[in-house]
Amino acid sequence: MSKPKSLQNRFHLLHPIIQAPMAGGVSTPELAAAVSNAGGMGSLGGGYSSPEKLREEIQKTKALTSKPFAVNLFISEWPARPDDRAYEQMSAIIGVYRKELGLSGFAPLSSEFEIQDEQMQVILDEKPAVFSFTFGIPSASWLQKFKDAGIYTIGTATHLAEAVALEKAGVDAICVQGSEAGGHRGTFIGKIPDSLIGTLALTSQVVSKVSIPVIAAGGIMNGQAINAVLELGAEAAQMGTAFLLTSEAGTNAPFRKILKTDRTLATTITRAFSGREARAIVNRMVTEMKEVEVLPYPYQNALTRELRTAAAKVGEPEMLSLYAGQGASLVREMSVQKLIETLAQEMQGSAGLT
Ligand SMILES: Cc1cc2nc3c(=O)[nH]c(=O)nc-3n(C[C@H](O)[C@H](O)[C@H](O)COP(=O)(O)O)c2cc1C
Repeated sequence: MSKPKSLQNRFHLLHPIIQAPMAGGVSTPELAAAVSNAGGMGSLGGGYSSPEKLREEIQKTKALTSKPFAVNLFISEWPARPDDRAYEQMSAIIGVYRKELGLSGFAPLSSEFEIQDEQMQVILDEKPAVFSFTFGIPSASWLQKFKDAGIYTIGTATHLAEAVALEKAGVDAICVQGSEAGGHRGTFIGKIPDSLIGTLALTSQVVSKVSIPVIAAGGIMNGQAINAVLELGAEAAQMGTAFLLTSEAGTNAPFRKILKTDRTLATTITRAFSGREARAIVNRMVTEMKEVEVLPYPYQNALTRELRTAAAKVGEPEMLSLYAGQGASLVREMSVQKLIETLAQEMQGSAGLT
């Protein structure tokens, strides 16, 4: 028996499509607003944003749309700062790449990572319709504050035990992230390499065991795939890679160039750029760093930030985190409006075949 589509009704969405949050400059206010204006739900990826920047981006998005949108954060306890020896070893390795791009010295390692409470406070103040999160679960007191403020919460699960934990914690909906998904793995129970379950299997497992709405993510690139996860009982599809080549996305030029080649056919899970497992298109740095013991997230991320910024500036894709899912070769270059229209048409076109 199919469940009532509470999520789509609640937010008056024309289409059961959520644009995935993509922190690091990809999910711009323009992208999120365009998706919401086109009848889906846009998301801002605030994981790396300072509280001030996050507030600015939310306000900018509000100015561009009156429709509901989501704001996403990384919620986790970070491991202790690595010791000086580990930091110096990693700095020396990153230094080789830095030198090639004309950057001198060692990369700075900021220790100001504990900003989650301030970020969540910004969300409470600004009250977007939805707060989504990954890498963990906010404390019970924070979840209660979001509930009291009428903000809908969506947690990320990569396997059944996480979905059950999210439901128990009282979140409103669960985004299940299949192993095909681009970007960081959301895993917070058990080891990440042991939690790589395909989107179809994961969606079916979670839908059968939890009673709150399930959103499916990972490798969903067209309307037919959206129909497939709806058929399995998901209430919506969350899509990231599909939006990377839209005109409104903040995807940088060298990444856009790679997305138009058959390099998209080779993705892998890597810790090279951030220290946390993420699916990315294979490039030189992914290959060369395979055997290297990198620093844990968020320290590796901080250590490679300047390098990645410089690489984007000079158009060097081999030192960039090209985060994308296994469906990346199906990515389409068009405006958000056109992409959402196309997805909706595909959903209608393939509906009769089932
Ligand atoms: C470039 C990129 C950045 C991402 N950043 C985030 C993020 O900040 N927060 C988050 O919850 N998920 C993030 N994700 C993962 C998405 O939420 C989602 O799981 C994934 O995009 C779904 O798979 P797909 O890329 O194949 O559509 C990111 C994905 C990509 C491709």
